[in-house]
Amino acid sequence: MAEEQYDWASLGIDTTKPSIARTYDVVLRGKDNFEVDRTFVAEIVKIIPEIYDVAAYNREILGRGVRYLAGEAGIRQFLDLGSGLPTVQNTHQVAQATAPGARVVYVDNDPIVLAHGRALLAENADTTVITADVREPEKILAHPDVRRLIDFDRPVGVMLVGILHHLHDDEDPQGIVETLMAAVPSGSHLFVTSFCASSQEAVDAEVQYQGMLGTGRFRTPEEITRYFDGLDLLDPGVVPLPLWRPDGDVPDELTVGQRLMYGGIARKP
Ligand SMILES: C[S@@+](CC[C@H](N)C(=O)[O-])C[C@H]1O[C@@H](n2cnc3c(N)ncnc32)[C@H](O)[C@@H]1O
Repeated sequence: MAEEQYDWASLGIDTTKPSIARTYDVVLRGKDNFEVDRTFVAEIVKIIPEIYDVAAYNREILGRGVRYLAGEAGIRQFLDLGSGLPTVQNTHQVAQATAPGARVVYVDNDPIVLAHGRALLAENADTTVITADVREPEKILAHPDVRRLIDFDRPVGVMLVGILHHLHDDEDPQGIVETLMAAVPSGSHLFVTSFCASSQEAVDAEVQYQGMLGTGRFRTPEEITRYFDGLDLLDPGVVPLPLWRPDGDVPDELTVGQRLMYGGIARKP
């Protein structure tokens, strides 16, 4: 994507600093990113050469998780928070392939997500994208588009996939999860993936993320598991992403990249 091609600033898009959504687009080998985003990823590659694979593991568990939720768990409405730029196998495509008519609200605070998401969703009446900040969960829950598509008397799939590590401790990610889960009824599910402090490389990467991107908190497996407090954690629990209900064989010993993110799904009793 060329920096000079559009008046990005008028869309609220800053091309001089890396953005979380666009740097993730780089590692997903997308085209919606700028030089500054690619420079950031080049620095991360020096610490975690497998970072592109890590993004793929995250998208793969997203697919497996949404298929489970829309299938076996019978979830028909999804609140996908920190949804990111459209890529392949987005939540609504996976959910609606499993359960036609499933409703999806994408939420992201980066205006570039809305700019690209609108085009993708122009003809999908069951899906929308809004610009909002997960640090203000009450505003999201009260948003007219959320209220229009999500019936809070029926189970909701609350997705916080690859986003909670972008919240600092003093932004209270735990409290945000609790507020969201308090708003949805029994039978709803919480789906989380997060960077994990699972190696020295992860600890080093955290320093680089914090320095260049301003966020990126690599939490311990115990801290990530705490997000599911009060919920029934489904098997196999909170685990490195490739170990969550894999479609195929997994190696006995995981690499640094395979352990870099942990995730899990739980059901609200
Ligand atoms: C790594 S991407 C994850 C995208 C997608 N959920 C996935 O896992 O493939 C994280 C997304 O969270 C968004 N994000 C970060 N902080 C946010 C906030 N406070 N409120 C809403 N979205 C946020 C970023 O803009 C980015 O698009």
